[in-house]
Amino acid sequence: MSRKAVANQAACVIEATGMYVPDRVLNNHDLEKIVDTSDEWIRTRTGIVERRIGEASETSGTMGAHAARQALERAGIAPQEVDLVICATITPDMPFPSTASVIQAELGAFNAACFDMEAACAGFIYALQIGAQFLYSGTYDTVLVIGAEKMSSVLDWSDRNTCVLFGDGAGAAVLRRDETGTRRGLISTILGADGRYGSILSVPGGGSKLPPTVETVQRGEHFLKMSGAEVYKQAVLRMQQAASGALKEAGVAAGDLKLLIPHQANRRIIQALVDRLGLRDDQVFINLDRYGNTSAASVIMALHEAVEQGALKRGDLFMFAAFGAGLSWAASLMEY
Ligand code: COA
Repeated sequence: MSRKAVANQAACVIEATGMYVPDRVLNNHDLEKIVDTSDEWIRTRTGIVERRIGEASETSGTMGAHAARQALERAGIAPQEVDLVICATITPDMPFPSTASVIQAELGAFNAACFDMEAACAGFIYALQIGAQFLYSGTYDTVLVIGAEKMSSVLDWSDRNTCVLFGDGAGAAVLRRDETGTRRGLISTILGADGRYGSILSVPGGGSKLPPTVETVQRGEHFLKMSGAEVYKQAVLRMQQAASGALKEAGVAAGDLKLLIPHQANRRIIQALVDRLGLRDDQVFINLDRYGNTSAASVIMALHEAVEQGALKRGDLFMFAAFGAGLSWAASLMEY
């Protein structure tokens, strides 16, 4: 949706961000010892050099809480002031309660409502848009939006097609209405999905369709399955459609973007998107070389690092674009 139709509403702005990744680094050479792969194959096909892998004690909930605490501290907002915690994740700590509740308890944010939101790698942008609706409507004043994933927990470490691609991490953003009237914040968003492509990227087992049994575990049905080439094609097409749509709705030219912050799945997918949008290479932020694909955490971790590195400043226009299982896709144009 665009904010054009509701032009009198106060803007939804990001007050601050936070990020957390586990200390443990797994590089491509380490993977050569686990599966039949090579540093050269992974680098040239994906751009990934290393990724972080959580210890047993690190979960989407604990990582999300670290990221959220940092975001709150940077915003100067106490946990008790948070009205809503939304956690985007496909690797929740457990089927229920929600990982947002786990994070709320870790933070002591006991005045907040909590729920998880699942749109795979597009999840953070979906959650951002949902959080914004609560602010626009006046229902809440302070919303914490988190993307947190322990992808290592759903990987088959004997499947070279998938285990080299993903990593663990979390990012968080504190959202509020701009009370100064000077910031534009979230400008336009495109969300989309096509459930007919559900089987090309999924964890088929462990839910109500295939509850965990000895047989489902022996068949590895609780591991991530992917048809890489099909996902690739859809990823480029859908991210381009979403990104172009968000620019068009806002009447903004691609050349006016300071940064595109794309889902960090594969450098070649990002390059194809950059080419199709007609962007310059210096208009795109990439950190997948260090973290791999962290699913719902990917774009918010990238935003956090872009700001940390001074690549994005207050007043700059940037765009999130992502795609993932569902299939689902999303793009949001924002002024930082
Ligand atoms: N190391 C070495 N070889 C590998 C490998 C690995 N880690 N993974 C796959 N291969 C092999 C395959 O077995 C296949 O071999 P075969 O031809 O003998 O059957 C071959 O590499 C495939 O090569 P190619 O077709 O050149 O790969 P690709 O260019 O399609 O790249 C992906 C593969 C997975 C990197 C690419 O398709 C991709 O990025 N897809 C999108 C995945 C994604 O982003 N998923 C997350 C979405 S949120």
